[in-house]
Amino acid sequence: MNTQEIIQKTELYILAEFSSEGSGHDWFHINRVRNMALRIGQNEECDLFRIEMAALLHDLDDWKLTDSDSHYPIKAGRWLDKMGVSEEVSSQILRIIEDVSYMGAGTDTPVRSIEASVVQDADRLDAIGALGIARTFAYGGHKNRLIYDPSIPPVMHNDFQSYKASTAPTINHFYEKLLLLKDRMNTQTARIIAQERHQFMQDYLTRFFEEWEATK
Ligand code: NI
Repeated sequence: MNTQEIIQKTELYILAEFSSEGSGHDWFHINRVRNMALRIGQNEECDLFRIEMAALLHDLDDWKLTDSDSHYPIKAGRWLDKMGVSEEVSSQILRIIEDVSYMGAGTDTPVRSIEASVVQDADRLDAIGALGIARTFAYGGHKNRLIYDPSIPPVMHNDFQSYKASTAPTINHFYEKLLLLKDRMNTQTARIIAQERHQFMQDYLTRFFEEWEATK
C-alpha cells in the first residue's frame, strides 16, 4: 500500500469508529485536527505523512474516552501493523500520539519531535475558541457536570490523577486548561491562531458572568 491508500483506509476506519461520539471527540474533531496539523505543518520542516496519520489516530486510545490509565496507544499500534507500516515509522507515529495528551495545568507534556509539536498544537487549537467552547460544554454534559457553580473554585491540578478525577463544573475547565493553552503552543503558526481564539473565549466568559449576574 502507498501512503495515500493508507491514509484513505485509516480515514474510513476512524470515521466508522467515531461516527456516534457525543463527547466532542467525534469524527469532525479528528478531521479538523488533521486539517489544522497539515496547515501548521506546511510551515515547518517535518514529515506530513506521520503528522496526518498521528492526527487521524490521536483519539483512538484517549484516556478520557477509554477510562484507561495507560497512555500507550494500543489500538493505534494494531492498526498501523495491519496497514503494513514499518516498525520504525509506526513507533514514530505512536510516539507523536503519546505526546499529544494534556495531563493537567501543573504537568509538563514535552514533545519529542517536530511532528508531535505540530499535532499537539492542532489538537490544542481545537480545544479553544468558538469550537473549544462548544466542545467543552458537550464534554461537560456527557460527564453530567454543572455548567457553573460559583461555590466551586477552579483548581490547578499538579498531577495527572487529580486532573483526571476532577468533577468540577464546566466553566472551571476554562481556567484549569483552556485559558492556559495559548502560552503552550509549540509553533509560531499556532501561537498566532491561538491568540485570536483566546481573546474570543475571554470575551465569551466576560459576557457569561455578566448574564449570570443579570447585569446584561
Ligand atoms: Ni483530540
